[in-house]
Amino acid sequence: MNTTFDFTGKVALITGAAGGIGGVLADLLHASGADLILADIDLAGVTAKAAELTGPGRSIAVQVDSSDPESIDSLIERVRSEFGELDFLVPSAGIYPTAMLADMTFAQWRQVMSINLDGIFLLTQRMIPIMRSGGSIVNLASVAGHRGSLSHAHYSVAKAGIIALTRNLALEFGSRGIRANAVSPGIIETSMTEGIRAQKGDVLLAQTPLGRNGAPEETASVIAFLLSDAASFVHGEVIHVNGGLFMAG
Ligand SMILES: NC(=O)c1ccc[n+]([C@@H]2O[C@H](COP(=O)([O-])OP(=O)(O)OC[C@H]3O[C@@H](n4cnc5c(N)ncnc54)[C@H](O)[C@@H]3O)[C@@H](O)[C@H]2O)c1
Repeated sequence: MNTTFDFTGKVALITGAAGGIGGVLADLLHASGADLILADIDLAGVTAKAAELTGPGRSIAVQVDSSDPESIDSLIERVRSEFGELDFLVPSAGIYPTAMLADMTFAQWRQVMSINLDGIFLLTQRMIPIMRSGGSIVNLASVAGHRGSLSHAHYSVAKAGIIALTRNLALEFGSRGIRANAVSPGIIETSMTEGIRAQKGDVLLAQTPLGRNGAPEETASVIAFLLSDAASFVHGEVIHVNGGLFMAG
């Protein structure tokens, strides 16, 4: 994919950067000149990714549990000490376990809320004070947050919460020159969706007018657009990236 932006001099923090979408986004932002903080609970994964991304921008790997307030505070200190301030924030860390609502334990519910929603609240609230005016946040919602998702109620509710959180970030921090938007991917081919693609991939493809799943590059490019000045008047929005699944499914 030939998608380039000029992010020279910009500092970007991506969580979930060892994952499918976060990793490809790291490639794209690095190719566009940004300095990167690649954070994930999987330290080996982000260390390997940072090692791939050689000059001119700097890329550092940091371990974080994005659901843990103390871990996030350590990440802020690392960002501050290495780069001073932040321009772009993309909280891409998340989990996607399966459980029917009738069988879901409170511990299962809380784990997903903790990582997929509390973690985004903590990260955005605590990073904004070190974000420069002109900064941009792009959250990862999901088609599940709009439509519901059979056997993923906890995930679906957390993603609906991210949509509302994004709009509240936009309301509160627009006056500081910080934009906040979200993308809502459908079925993107990463390890997160291996299970659902194996279980009901044919049904989902039949509901998708483009007739195929998305590649992580096709989400990363929309995130990069929302981060960039090309989207300088896009604020509090949620962009669907799903080949038409949401519209037609
Ligand atoms: N792949 C899709 O089809 C799809 C669809 C809709 C939304 N999304 C969302 O996009 C984001 C990225 O998804 P992906 O497909 O790249 O998934 P992925 O599983 O490839 O990557 C997720 C990453 O999050 C990390 N992570 C998990 N728990 C963490 C924690 N507590 N602290 C820090 N890091 C943690 C994992 O180690 C992993 O590297 C997620 O928020 C996901 O919900 C993905």
